[in-house]
Amino acid sequence: MQTPTAPIEIIDPDYYQQNGYPHEFWAELRRDRPIAYCKHPKLVPFYAVTRYEDIVNISKQPGVFENAPLLSVQPEAEEDLITRVRTLLNMDPPDHRTYRQLMSRYFTKRRLNEDQHRLDQVAEDLLDSVADEAEMDFVTRVSAILPLAVIAELMGLPQEDRDQFFRWTNEIVGANDPEFRREDGTTGRELAQRAIEEVFAYCTDFVEDRRKHPRDDLTTVLATAKIEGEYLPPLELLSYLFLLIAAGNETTRNATSGGVLALMEHRDQLELVQKHPELLDSLVEEMVRWTSPVIHFCRTPNRDVTLHDVSIKAGEHLTLFYPSANRDETVFSEPMRFDVQRDKNPQIGFGIGEHLCLGAHLARNELRAIFKALLARLREIELIEPPERLRSGFIGGVKHLQVRLRLV
Ligand code: HEM
Repeated sequence: MQTPTAPIEIIDPDYYQQNGYPHEFWAELRRDRPIAYCKHPKLVPFYAVTRYEDIVNISKQPGVFENAPLLSVQPEAEEDLITRVRTLLNMDPPDHRTYRQLMSRYFTKRRLNEDQHRLDQVAEDLLDSVADEAEMDFVTRVSAILPLAVIAELMGLPQEDRDQFFRWTNEIVGANDPEFRREDGTTGRELAQRAIEEVFAYCTDFVEDRRKHPRDDLTTVLATAKIEGEYLPPLELLSYLFLLIAAGNETTRNATSGGVLALMEHRDQLELVQKHPELLDSLVEEMVRWTSPVIHFCRTPNRDVTLHDVSIKAGEHLTLFYPSANRDETVFSEPMRFDVQRDKNPQIGFGIGEHLCLGAHLARNELRAIFKALLARLREIELIEPPERLRSGFIGGVKHLQVRLRLV
């Protein structure tokens, strides 16, 4: 049988920047070519996985489908990212479990819910700070700030350093977007690499400090954690801190901005959630499904496998397209409808299985805090320019969202 192929649009950063998500291409792949080969001179070749059920099954077999060999398919940046950091995202069993356990108890629903009032306060303060502005870029003034403020607080890092976290995250996640290049003509790969070096240098100082002066924060937990009686090796320790700083920013920012955009585009749903605040949790779930801010992560089988009659050799790469899974018509009724009352919503925007997003409950609580505050105070919101999207086939981002806003 001839191997089915996938169109380049599903991974092309320019396509994403200009058009947003390629839902029509994904729908066709889900229907006719659930495992489809994609090859392009500038990219590592890969098999696109677009059906919900396949993504779930693959994600639940970490012993076969590994994360370490390749994290994501991107022109430029990606190879260096993989060799320079070693995080949960590119670890496999048994190390992955050992490292994840160091943090998992700090990210449980119960523990995070105890601090919901803190997040609510941060969200209220944030809206107070913009309440007098009639027009603004919602992304840089609101969506980006909350996750940065929250992670700085959890890690015990100075709030004044938030601007740096913002820049580093943009330079690493948005390395292929010319807007985030520094002026001196660096390539995306160099930019991402330099940002990682800067994060590592920054974190090194805090590790030393916390070993001498422990505090009640996540930086102290990691700086003083031991595996088999030894501190974590420097690469793994700094990578872990880097992951916590970076993983939740761009993603939560984009769920927030994409969520606001969805509400502006679906006025009936906005009215409904304003009238019925009890729909908040269901709104959050629907926003994550709808926006699916992570476009893909990769898996690489460590032995030959066959999926839907397509033979894949050990070492070849698969890309799991989460936004496609979240519009799978065999799982979601009317998947192309933004529905804040969806009663069955097993969305997998946070991934699933072994690498299920460590920060999923935190992200949910952040979204709950910002939308609770926003919906209670919102009188008017209107888009005044078309949204500007990130040039990336890895993270789906809204970079700028110019809105006219009236809050009480
Ligand atoms: C709406 C917001 C978010 C989305 C859509 C999201 C999405 C994801 C996805 C899809 C994965 C799975 C990777 C894989 O299977 O290979 C993941 C992993 C991860 N996320 Fe998130 N994330 C979000 C927010 C956060 C936040 C706030 C944090 C806070 C620290 C965070 C930390 C992590 C970490 C540490 C991992 C690695 C888990 C592992 O490999 O075991 N994320 N995230």
